[in-house]
Amino acid sequence: MKQDGAAAVSEQRQWDRLMAMAQFGAIPGDGVNRACLTRNDRAARRVVIGWAREIGLAVSIDEAANLWLRREGTDPAARPVLTGSHMDSQPNGGRFDGIYGVIAGLEALTALHDAKVKTRRPIEVVAWTNEEGGRFAPGCMGSMSWAGHSPITTWSDVRDHDGIRFADALAEHLAEEADLPRRKLGGAPHAYIEAHIEQGPRLEAEEFDIGAVTGIQGSRWFTVTLTGESAHAGTTPLKLRHDAVQDMVRAITALNVLMHDPDDVLRFTVGRVVVSPNTSNSVAASATFSIDLRHPDPGILRARGNAVEGVIQAAVRDVAVSVQESFNALPVLFDSGMIGAVEQAARAERLRCTRLASGAFHDAQFAVKLAPTGMIFVPCRKGISHNPAEYSSPDQLAHGTRVLTRVLTELAA
Ligand code: GLV
Ligand code: MN
Ligand code: MN
Repeated sequence: MKQDGAAAVSEQRQWDRLMAMAQFGAIPGDGVNRACLTRNDRAARRVVIGWAREIGLAVSIDEAANLWLRREGTDPAARPVLTGSHMDSQPNGGRFDGIYGVIAGLEALTALHDAKVKTRRPIEVVAWTNEEGGRFAPGCMGSMSWAGHSPITTWSDVRDHDGIRFADALAEHLAEEADLPRRKLGGAPHAYIEAHIEQGPRLEAEEFDIGAVTGIQGSRWFTVTLTGESAHAGTTPLKLRHDAVQDMVRAITALNVLMHDPDDVLRFTVGRVVVSPNTSNSVAASATFSIDLRHPDPGILRARGNAVEGVIQAAVRDVAVSVQESFNALPVLFDSGMIGAVEQAARAERLRCTRLASGAFHDAQFAVKLAPTGMIFVPCRKGISHNPAEYSSPDQLAHGTRVLTRVLTELAA
C-alpha cells in the first residue's frame, strides 16, 4: 500500500480548517449551531469549495443539495470511492460532529495531491444534506434520497421551528448555489468510508486511537401530538379539564415502562417538547413530543416501536392522540472487508484500534445497500457529543485522517 498520502496529512491544516468551520454558527462555550440550508451552512460550504478548488477538485451539487468534491483517477470510467459526512450541526452542537468527516476527506485528497499520488479510481468527498434532523426532521435526508431509500420530495412539507417548509428552504438553497454544476442524484460507488468522532466514551476510556466500526444500531423517530383544550388555570375544576401536559406526563411515564431495558441497550429519548399556549395560567391545549428509539436488534425495535401508539392511548385520559413515525433506519452491519481495511490501516500507522458498533446513526447507514461500507471513529473527550463541549484533539483527528487516507488509497488503487 502506498504510504505517501498518509504521510502528507497535515494535522495543523486540518485543525485550522475545522476551527475555521466552527466560526460559521459559533455559539458560546465553543459550540456550533449550523442548521442545514441556512446562510451559515452556505457560507461554510463556500469556504470548503474554495479549498477543494485549490487542489483541482471538481465541485458539483445534486437536487438534494448534497455537495460533491471529486478527484479524478487515471481511469475516469471506474466507479469512485466515496467518503464524507455532514456539515450541519445540532442547535446546541459541537465543532466536530459531521464536519470532521468532510474536512478529513478533503485533507486526505489534499495529502494525495501534495504527495502526487495517482489512484486508478476517482475519489469523491460528499457533504450530505441535513444529517442531524435538528431543523427538519428526520435526519439523513440527503443520504436517504441519494441511496433511493425515499425521494427527497418525501419531506417537502416538513416545517422547521419557524414554519419554513423543507421544499422552500431547499429551493432557496439550490438557487443560491445555481452557479455550481449539477449532477444527478444517486450513484453506485465502489465503496463508502466515513470518518467521524465516536460520540461515546469507549475509545478514550480504553485508550484506543481508532475504532473500526462494525455497524450501526437501528433508529425510529415518532412525533406524538396530544390535543386537549385550553382553559383557565384558576377556575377550571380538574374534572372539566382536557390537560395536554398532564396527559403527556402520563404518556411518557407509560413509555418509560414500555422501553425499560435492564441491560441498558435500548435507548429511549424524549428530547423535544412543544406545549401550547405555553403560559402559566392556562391549561395546555396541546403538547407535542418527540420519541427517539434505538436498538441493534430489529425485532426489538419493531416490537417496542409498534407498541408506542397503543401504550399512549391507554395512558392518557382526556386528550386526542396522534402518533406519526418520521424515521425508521434499520440496524446495519458493515462489510467485513471494510472493517479489515480500517484495522490494517491503523496497524500500518501503529495506532491502537478496536472494533465497536455505533450508537449514533450516520449517513453511512444508507450506503450499505449500494456498496461495501465502513466507518472510522476517533476518540472524543468523555464521549461528549451534541454538546458545545464536544472535543477531539488535533492529533486524535489526524490519526483518523491518516487511516482514512490509507483506506481510500487502497480502495482506489
Ligand atoms: C445523529 O446525529 C444521531 O442522532 O445519531
Ligand atoms: Mn454526525
Ligand atoms: Mn449528530
